[in-house]
Order: sequence, then C-alpha cells, then structure tokens
Amino acid sequence: MPSLTIRRATPEDEAVVAEICRSALLPADRGDMAGLGRLLWHTDGVIGFVAERDGAIVGAVFGTVTHEFEGTVTAAVTLIAVAPGHSRRGIGTKLLAELESAVCERGATEVWSGGGQPRFWWSGVDEKCPAVIAFFEKAGYLKDDVAPNMRVALADADLGAREVGTTAIRRLVPSEWPAFREWMDQTWENQWGEEVTTTLDRTPVSCFVAVRDGAYIGFSAYDTNRRALFGPMGSSPQAREHGLGSELLRFCLRDYVDQGLTECEIGWAGPVDFYTKVMGAVVSRRFIRLKKEL
Ligand SMILES: CC(C)(COP(=O)(O)OP(=O)(O)OC[C@H]1O[C@@H](n2cnc3c(N)ncnc32)[C@H](O)[C@@H]1OP(=O)(O)O)[C@@H](O)C(=O)NCCC(=O)NCCS
Repeated sequence: MPSLTIRRATPEDEAVVAEICRSALLPADRGDMAGLGRLLWHTDGVIGFVAERDGAIVGAVFGTVTHEFEGTVTAAVTLIAVAPGHSRRGIGTKLLAELESAVCERGATEVWSGGGQPRFWWSGVDEKCPAVIAFFEKAGYLKDDVAPNMRVALADADLGAREVGTTAIRRLVPSEWPAFREWMDQTWENQWGEEVTTTLDRTPVSCFVAVRDGAYIGFSAYDTNRRALFGPMGSSPQAREHGLGSELLRFCLRDYVDQGLTECEIGWAGPVDFYTKVMGAVVSRRFIRLKKEL
C-alpha cells in the first residue's frame, strides 16, 4: 500500500510545487510563475500543506484567513493542485480537509474556493474547470456567486490622455505611502489598502493617485498580486465625474503598453459595463465562487 502523508509546506518544497502547478493549472494561470511563487511562499499569513506519496510530493494546498466582515472570520483556498497522475485518489480531499482544520483553528467560520483579499490568484474556480467545481462540491462547498475577469486588447484601446478638471493624476511616490494608506483605509474601509502595498515593490511603482486641492480623490493599481492583472481602482463617491475613473484606468494601461504588453486582464471586475464602455473590455473568464460553512 502506498503511504500518504500530509505535512506543512516548507520553502524547500517550492520547486516541486511549482512543477505540479505547471502541469495542473490552466495556461492562463501559469503565465506568471514568479508572481505565484511570491504569493504562496513569501506572503504573510499564507498557510500551506503538501501531500507526499511514498516520499514524493504529489499535491499542495495553500490558504489564508482573510478578513472579518461583520463579525465573520473568512478563509480562502488560495490554491489547490494535485499532480495529474495522482488524481482521483482522495489526495485533494485530504489536503483540503487539512487546510480547513488549520483555518478553523485560526477562527475562520467559512471558507471560499478562491479570493482571499488582499492576496489572491483568482476569485474562484474558472467555470471551464467542471472537475474542480465537482471537487469542491463533493467536499461540501455550495455555489454562491460568479465573478468575471475581463480582457482588454491594448492595441485597440483608446489610451490618449484626457483633462479631468482640476484633478492631477500621477504615479504614487513611496514617501507618501503613510498618508495614502490612511486615506485608503478610511475611504475603502480597509478593503484595498493592504492589497495595494505590493505596488511599491514594482518598478515602476504600479499605482496612480488622483489629487485635487491637496487631497486624494482616487487611485488605480495593477500587478498587485499577478502580472498583467489590472486592479483595484476606486474614486471617491463625491469625485465620480469628469471621467476620473476612466483616466485613472488609462494611466495604468499606458504603463502596460510601455512595458510591451498587447493585452491585460481586469481582475474580479465589478462594473463590467464601465470597462466595456471605456476600453471595449470583454468578459474573458467567469469564476464560480463556492463557499463552505465550517
Ligand atoms: C481539483 C483537484 C485538486 C482534485 O484533486 P484530487 O486529488 O483528484 O481529488 P479527490 O481524489 O480528492 O476527488 C474528490 C472528489 O472530487 C470530485 N472530482 C475530482 N476530480 C474530478 C473529475 N476530474 N471529474 C469529476 N469529479 C471530480 C469527485 O467527486 C471526487 O470523488 P470520487 O473520486 O470519489 O468520485 C485536482 O483535480 C487538480 O489539481 N486540478 C487542477 C488544479 C486546479 O485547477 N486547482 C483549482 C484551483 S484552486
């Protein structure tokens, strides 16, 4: 009988797990392996387990305890992958159970099949992966909602700069981070401040700010977790006029063009009609978000 052991992931496992991801994930999800590595192995709060079969790693799961929303401590499965030659042997189920008990110990009362702001690779399970959806359903997860990603063909997009009244839009400067973070946390109820922290590590800084009369009124960011993924973005409710959101978006997309990209994705797109109208963006992927009460 082959032996199966589930144990905590250690940094030494990174290369083998990356190899499993290369063989198990959709091509669209393995275009930025460096970013995936950063997310799984170098992010505070990410918990990982690997499955060893006869001493060889054949699967891995990672997750986070994310945020408290109205008293609910939420967890998310950041990634689960089993090497294709080892599927349908209950390995994924055992890995998931291990992660669920770890997040439960940390106070989570529900767990999602993706997402997990501020650090995530996708918002849920791609609808093109019915096997993965079946896997989560068998483990007791229920479909909750659907979140789209949108694709922008950068060559076809009108990225010319526009005037936005008296508002100045410019790249975030690292030294202003404390003031900006305070505004982010106050304006967006701690929703995006942490996610945008990573833009300071990008070259150039991948965050723009809109400033009027010395006060922040909007921001846009890209590559927070993953290369070629735009978002998040927000303009203060009282500043949603004069095309501010569209111009903030164009600032980021112009960077992408300068960096040689021909297309990008808008991750977890909220106002789909806005992105279609402004950039001709089309829904490219739909993620089914499943949830389990623990
Ligand atoms: C999803 C995944 C982790 C499942 O791992 P696994 O070890 O094969 O899962 P299990 O053997 O524990 O399967 C448990 C149940 O899930 C369902 N399931 C798993 N694979 C399935 C498939 N290909 N088709 C239909 N149902 C499937 C079945 O109900 C199965 O129970 P059964 O074998 O008794 O019928 C694996 O398929 C995988 O790595 N997929 C690619 C990676 C990926 O896309 N991950 C999701 C992003 S987070």
